[in-house]
Amino acid sequence: MWLGVAHLQDCDGSSLTGMFPDCHPLSPPHTILLSLTLSSKEALVKRIKAIYPGSFDPPTNGHLDLIERGNKIFDELVVAILRNPEKDPLFSVADRRKMLETMTANFDNVSVDTFDGLTVDYALRVEARAILRGIRAISDYEYELQMALMNRKLQPGLETVFMMPAEKYSYLSSRLVREVAQLGGSIDCLVPEIVGQKLREKIDVAHKFGGPPATSEAETKAKNQRQKQRRRPK
Ligand code: PNS
Repeated sequence: MWLGVAHLQDCDGSSLTGMFPDCHPLSPPHTILLSLTLSSKEALVKRIKAIYPGSFDPPTNGHLDLIERGNKIFDELVVAILRNPEKDPLFSVADRRKMLETMTANFDNVSVDTFDGLTVDYALRVEARAILRGIRAISDYEYELQMALMNRKLQPGLETVFMMPAEKYSYLSSRLVREVAQLGGSIDCLVPEIVGQKLREKIDVAHKFGGPPATSEAETKAKNQRQKQRRRPK
């Protein structure tokens, strides 16, 4: 048995209509049924844009998993590759961008961009309201928390959202993928096809010009020696 209908008008013009149940203890069910009518669709829909910053050297299946999850909850997601002149990456920013663009081609609301400087400044420039970061294990948490709190100090209006990739990727990192690939291990199922292909190309080139990747200290020394000799002017 329903006692009445209430009509609430919000200050932004949206309205809420609800049916409220009888308060008699025997009257089923004790729930409130609400039907929402909006003066305009935009009144309720807040478009949330987020950035997913990182090095992505190279992008892995763990990154892709997080992008898929982010794509489900944000209206727009920008995968933002940091251009860091201090790092000596395996892949150029252009290569990483290409790989990420290929990996995310099926997602309408995901784009890829590059940035330098502070992440929060970039987020403001592109009018993002959230920073998406992945946490694979407790070991990630301390660093991520520190970064999130610093970002909040720098820009209090910006929220960091942590998401967990699938458990099967909890051990996966770009650093390990680089290392395993360079030492000849299989990276199947760890990276998307396009990344595997690019890694194989890189490693083939390295083998051609620098010999196989070193596996021991003695080999590392020998390799460094060979490289030094090659660099010496004739
Ligand atoms: O994939 P990564 O290497 O873990 O990503 C780290 C990244 C790029 C998110 C972080 O180093 C960063 O935000 N760098 C930009 C410079 C900056 O804003 N520094 C202050 C962070 S609190």
